[in-house]
Amino acid sequence: MSEAIVSIENVTKRFDARAVLEDISLKIAPGEMVAIMGSSGGGKTTLLRCISGLIIPTKGQVIVDGIDVNAEPEEARRRMGMVFQSAALFDFMTVEANVLFGIKRQLKLSKTEQMKVAAEALARVGLEGNEHKMPAELSGGMRKRVGIARALALSPKVMLYDEPTTGLDPITTYTIDALMLQLRKEFGMTSLIVSHDVSSVFRTADRVAFLHGGRLVFVGTPAEFAEADDENIQELVQKSRAEKMSLDN
Ligand SMILES: Nc1ncnc2c1ncn2[C@@H]1O[C@H](COP(=O)(O)OP(=O)(O)OP(=O)(O)O)[C@@H](O)[C@H]1O
Ligand SMILES: [Mg+2]
Repeated sequence: MSEAIVSIENVTKRFDARAVLEDISLKIAPGEMVAIMGSSGGGKTTLLRCISGLIIPTKGQVIVDGIDVNAEPEEARRRMGMVFQSAALFDFMTVEANVLFGIKRQLKLSKTEQMKVAAEALARVGLEGNEHKMPAELSGGMRKRVGIARALALSPKVMLYDEPTTGLDPITTYTIDALMLQLRKEFGMTSLIVSHDVSSVFRTADRVAFLHGGRLVFVGTPAEFAEADDENIQELVQKSRAEKMSLDN
């Protein structure tokens, strides 16, 4: 896959002496949706942070759209939108001001154009008309969507979602999944999605990468994932099957 838009090459990350990521390599094709799964504390957020340039790997490198993230973090970051694990909104700012925050800093636009970009991003996530609300007035799903709008407003080529559906009910999860799929359909958006939700991953991902103890122990299609010969993966898959059965009954 020489045309990878994201190339993670032998990334190791240590905090003090402790390795949180060990020799991770993964190539992602343009327009591909890759789910990153794994146990809590397994290093998923750390991997997204290494990709986005928020932290520097101890070893190895990440290339995004031909740009070395460590060598040219500003250039690389322009190509990526990050949706944080907690929506990470500024609670003292309106929805619109939250979305405008990055636009003002990153895009050289007139005030009118800035507002237009913010309105378009909010419309894209189905939040038109909510510009003047405060984050505290929003549901969990709406907050996540503001976080997505804020990242989308900067027209990234790659979106990094850290648990976009954790804590949401099944129907809201479904609408976020549909939104991520729609972005791929409309803009060919490449997505990395950290998730705990097997059924959501099966709806959205082309491939699943499973992190355990800082290592990438599995990469493959969702169908291969369901059959993977790994006890941690099977535990997750079985749990999801049991949950699905209890929902169906
Ligand atoms: N800045 C940091 N300094 C020291 N240790 C850290 C730092 N960031 C993360 N860690 C440690 O690295 C490990 C992996 O953390 P990380 O947040 O990447 O896990 P995760 O897979 O995203 O977990 P979760 O599913 O709970 O979000 C944890 O043990 C965490 O304590
Ligand atoms: Mg995390």
